[in-house]
Amino acid sequence: MKENSNKVPEAVIRRLPRYYRYLSELFINGIDRISSKELSIRMGITASQIRQDLNNFGGFGQQGYGYNVKELHQAIERIIGLNKQNNMIIIGAGNVGQAIANYTNFEAKGFKLKALFDTNPKLIGLMIRGIEILDIDKLTQEFVKQNSINVAVLCVPKNNAQTVANKAMECNVKALWNFAPVDIKVYDDVVIENVHLSDSLYTLCYKMNSSK
Ligand code: NAI
Repeated sequence: MKENSNKVPEAVIRRLPRYYRYLSELFINGIDRISSKELSIRMGITASQIRQDLNNFGGFGQQGYGYNVKELHQAIERIIGLNKQNNMIIIGAGNVGQAIANYTNFEAKGFKLKALFDTNPKLIGLMIRGIEILDIDKLTQEFVKQNSINVAVLCVPKNNAQTVANKAMECNVKALWNFAPVDIKVYDDVVIENVHLSDSLYTLCYKMNSSK
């Protein structure tokens, strides 16, 4: 399944978390199966779009039966990679870094926070949920290897973000979750995902103003 992932369109990849969310909800509510029509109504996309999307991963569901919720939920969990543990570090233990560290739901989904890193002597040595804020100098290839770190969360000011990203990549971290408002250049074998809350807020703002 993973071997095909390069060919999966970005738009489909972006819809996967939403499928996962809806199926988690159905699963939690004890619903065993759902017709493609019902799922499409709930999600606000067409049944054919759902079929097309899922066909990228081999296709699921049966004509006249619909989807087995548990099976599809597990399949999407595997496709996304949420069935494995991922070990994270947070670089920049300020407002955003601490907020992410305090949010325990990521851990429930297998993203285990192993350490936070910062340069501020006032923060170094403090614990958040029992996890220590370490001096950035302690971030080494050895640390990454020993703790099997695969994700670095970048929560530093934008002017330091590329330097910090370079450091993480030099230490062999292969995935960056970037909160700094800057485009980071990454090595060919490194993946990056940017989070910009302000984009979402500005979109809301546009909608508020254009609907008047
Ligand atoms: P903050 O100033 O509270 O925290 C930044 C931390 O990074 C500080 O503790 C600082 O000591 C540390 N730091 C600076 N250089 C470092 C380095 N080279 N290595 C390790 N640590 C270093 O800032 P805040 O509010 O937490 O914001 C962090 C970043 O997130 C900023 O780039 C900000 O623009 C961005 N941000 C992004 C949002 C989003 O939607 N993606 C929302 C809010 C903020």
